[in-house]
Amino acid sequence: MGKEMSEKSISLNRMLALEMGRVTERAAVCSAVWVGRGDEKSADQAAVDAMRKELNVIDIDGTVVIGEGERDEAPMLYIGEQVGTGKGPKVDIALDPLEGTTLTAKAMPNAMTVLAIASGGTLLHAPDCYMDKIAIGGGYPAGIVDLDATPAENIKALAKAKGVQPNEITACILDRPRHADLIRAVRETGARVTLITDGDIAGVIATTDPETGVDIYMGVGGAPEGVLASAALRCIGGQMQGRLVTASEEQKARAAKMGVKDFNKKFEMQEMASGDVIFAATGVTDGWLLDGIHYERGGVTTDTIVMRSATGTVRRLKSFHASASKFR
Ligand code: FBP
Repeated sequence: MGKEMSEKSISLNRMLALEMGRVTERAAVCSAVWVGRGDEKSADQAAVDAMRKELNVIDIDGTVVIGEGERDEAPMLYIGEQVGTGKGPKVDIALDPLEGTTLTAKAMPNAMTVLAIASGGTLLHAPDCYMDKIAIGGGYPAGIVDLDATPAENIKALAKAKGVQPNEITACILDRPRHADLIRAVRETGARVTLITDGDIAGVIATTDPETGVDIYMGVGGAPEGVLASAALRCIGGQMQGRLVTASEEQKARAAKMGVKDFNKKFEMQEMASGDVIFAATGVTDGWLLDGIHYERGGVTTDTIVMRSATGTVRRLKSFHASASKFR
């Protein structure tokens, strides 16, 4: 590939990164109308409609590989749906139009609109099942935590690498009955546990930001969210592993249909998002990572993060939208 060509593809990616931020911004503005109104479905639908509309004017030949579900159960942004004008580069798209539908409906922190794009075939096609996850932020030697180690071993190894006692480590875990043993085991080491009610993409990314106080994310959440979180860590730095939890034969069949051969495989972050990836998210409600939508005289403000794995650039876009009322 000549110099001219590679420069062209670099600038194309740069442009796409900003375009992706525009997509999550619009979805956030539209779903934020539903913050605190107790209507999860409408909040999600608003994000889906807006994301699709905005994706379809971008010059990409995109295929949704992680979306709202399979074609028969999701009218829009279903797995396999083609998006974009079809004129640009071929890309895979993973999206969670509204990560934290309940958080939005209840006006709780950390709801955000999320998407990742990558060159074709480089994102794990995860079925809509659970995934066991472990993640830490950047700056640690590779492999110091592992899904196959016990919670106590992981906390102690992380504390040692950080140069602190286990009681100075904080783990973020989804507040679910299925995590009772995990929470107990972590607390027995002396570590703190920050429980979240929803939104584990934010929980994983929180490990990369010392201001959140979160050192490690542990536990079982959505598999699609696991792939999106991996894409984010590929850009911002950090380590993550995931293992699908395919409880039923039906889930196994779905996973097999999506190309998963070994149901017990421990996926490294680099296997869940293996190529160059762009990750974008916009806050719907205020959260660890992002401010939510704020209404101001004459418009709304959005807070967006856009990152690229190729360069490790992490861009924060604080934007004011005077024309937000026309978004719907
Ligand atoms: P939604 O965006 O669909 O509301 O999902 C939120 C979420 O909390 C994810 O962040 C998490 O991975 C998953 O749900 C956990 O699933 P469950 O609520 O079944 O434990």
